Amino acid sequence: MMEANVNGTNQPAKVEIAGEEVIVVSNIPQIEVSEKAREVKPEAGVKLDVRHVNFYYGSKQALSNVTLPIRERQVTALIGPSGCGKTTFLRTLNRMNDLIPGTRIEGEAIMDGDNIYGTGIDVIRLRQRVGMVFQRPNPFPSSIFDNVAYGLRVQRKSGHSITETVEESLRRAVLWDEVKDRLKAPAQGLSGGQQQRLCIARALAVKPEVLLMDEPCSALDPIATLKIEELITQLSENYTIVIVTHNMQEAARVSQFTGFFLSGKLVEYGPTVDIFKHSKVKETEDYISGRFG
Ligand SMILES: Nc1ncnc2c1ncn2[C@@H]1O[C@H](COP(=O)(O)OP(=O)(O)O)[C@@H](O)[C@H]1O
Ligand SMILES: [Mg+2]
Repeated sequence: MMEANVNGTNQPAKVEIAGEEVIVVSNIPQIEVSEKAREVKPEAGVKLDVRHVNFYYGSKQALSNVTLPIRERQVTALIGPSGCGKTTFLRTLNRMNDLIPGTRIEGEAIMDGDNIYGTGIDVIRLRQRVGMVFQRPNPFPSSIFDNVAYGLRVQRKSGHSITETVEESLRRAVLWDEVKDRLKAPAQGLSGGQQQRLCIARALAVKPEVLLMDEPCSALDPIATLKIEELITQLSENYTIVIVTHNMQEAARVSQFTGFFLSGKLVEYGPTVDIFKHSKVKETEDYISGRFG
C-alpha cells in the first residue's frame, strides 16, 4: 500500500473503497511556507486599519464589508480568484479608485489616526505616502534618471537633493549597480525585471510609508521574480507592503499575513502560516489546494 502526505498534513487520509481500507495518495502540491513568512512581529502596529469597507462601480458592488488590519513593516498578501476584488481593494488604500467615474466607497481606513476617506484628506499627499507598483512595469518614456526624479520635480526639490535621492532610491530598489553608468539612457531599454525595479525606485523616491504592489511579478521571468521577491523582503524592514498575487507560492514566500478574497468578501485573514497550514475556512483550503480559481 502506498502512503503520501495529503494536502500538506502528515496524516495520510484513509478511505474505504469496496470494503477495503485505502490510503489516499494526493497529487495536490504542498505549499512551502518560508522562514520569512514565519517572521511575524507580534509587536507590529497597524499602519492602515481598514474597517467595514464597501465599494461600488456604479450599481455593482465589488467589495462587501471588508475589515482588515494592514500591519506596519510587514508584508500582507492578498490572494483569491480572478475578479474577486483584490485590485479594487488595493486601490482603495490610496484612493486610486477615485479616478474612476461613478465609483463610491463606504467605511473607513484609518492611517495614523485619520480616515483616509475623509473629505479633508490631501489625496496627492496620500498617494505619496501610499505608493503603488503595477502589474506591468510602466516606466515613463524618459531616461532612467528622469523616471525616478519625476515625483521629486513635482515636489520642486532642488537639483542637488534630486540627484542624491535618485541614487538612494535606485540603491534601495537594488538597481543602482546595473544602471549607474547609463542614467541618461531611456528607461524603455531596460529588461522587464529592471523596469519593475525602476518603478519601485520611482515610488520610493517620494518617501512612501506604504507600498502597494498589484501582481508585480506576473509579467516577469522566474529570475526577475526572485529578485523582486528578495527586494520585497528587504524593503519590508522599512516599509509596510501590501502585495496582490495570484501565485500562492509567492504569497507563502514573501508575506507574514495573508487575506483571502472571494466575490468581494474577505473570507479569511491571518498569519500566512495559519492560512496555508491551518486554514479554518473550507473555501480558503479549497482555493489553496487548487480545487478552484
Ligand atoms: N473600472 C471598473 N468598472 C466596473 N467594474 C469593474 C472595474 N474594475 C473592476 N471591476 C469589476 O470589479 C470586480 C473586481 O475586480 P478586480 O478588483 O479587478 O478583481 P481582481 O483584481 O481580484 O481580479 C470584477 O467583477 C470586475 O469586473
Ligand atoms: Mg487584479
